[in-house]
Amino acid sequence: MKPKIGIVGAGNVGASVAHISLMRNLGDIYLLDLYADLAKGKAIDLNQSKFLLGSDCAVEGGGDYAKIAGCDYVVVTAGLARKPGMSRDDLLFANFDIIKGVANELKKSKKNPIVIVVSNPLDVMAYTMQKVTGFPKERVIGMAGVLDTYRFLHFIQGATGAAADNMQSMILGSHGDTMVPLLSHTFVNGEALDAIMPAADAAALADKAANGGAEIVALLKTGSAYYAPAASVVKMLESIIQDKKTVIPCSVSADGNYGINGIYVGLPAVLGKNGVEKIAQLKISAAETEKLKKSASAIKEQIDKIESRF
Ligand code: LAC
Repeated sequence: MKPKIGIVGAGNVGASVAHISLMRNLGDIYLLDLYADLAKGKAIDLNQSKFLLGSDCAVEGGGDYAKIAGCDYVVVTAGLARKPGMSRDDLLFANFDIIKGVANELKKSKKNPIVIVVSNPLDVMAYTMQKVTGFPKERVIGMAGVLDTYRFLHFIQGATGAAADNMQSMILGSHGDTMVPLLSHTFVNGEALDAIMPAADAAALADKAANGGAEIVALLKTGSAYYAPAASVVKMLESIIQDKKTVIPCSVSADGNYGINGIYVGLPAVLGKNGVEKIAQLKISAAETEKLKKSASAIKEQIDKIESRF
């Protein structure tokens, strides 16, 4: 039996997750949207591409949550995207209501699904999803650190010309203005990034990564990025479905890790068939630890604003 992947929200991110998952032959897909015909239409189109893509997975679309209840993996992309000039945090109340509604539907699941949340503000929406569904914390995960990290690698390659396989980095913390690029874990051809260029230049590349989403929003004007976010979701799905146990920075429930407790925040997680199988404890600098704590406080402030609305 093929794995069943449910995708809630048939907008650009959801449809792109379906498209890449189909190309990778990851499983049969149900694409759901409130606008059922939109999901149906995109599913028909995707299905008609499957032989061309060499896939034998099927895509179905519609507005039927009963189909999502039979899925082993659910990707939640529902919600508003930011407009130019907005921060991800500006979406807090509108997307809280949407995610709460989706979570109440997912509670009816007949499986023990692993849920990947993509909606913003990411860390608070992942927290909301876990709290409303009551699903085990290791089975509700937010997508973000992987996207921020690969944006950083893209900018590092632009500055150094390094081959993709010869760059490593990790961005932790919130998927927001306080994200924490780990220069202590950023290497080009095995050398520390801030050793091969002035520290200020390395920090400027990290800033570009942190503003990578906003740069795209400003250009698109009517929505936010979707190709790289969708590819990031599929990287997580692949590690989980194929039990690869890859360490991927993503938003997870912190239980004392890095001195953080009771919230969702971006940390390096080993993703396997059980979801988050372990949170890696990296050796990071005192300054990075401090920044991570600040980032966690910023997430906690956002959570405090919605805590009375559950
Ligand atoms: C971005 C959205 C997905 O960073 O938050 O592009």
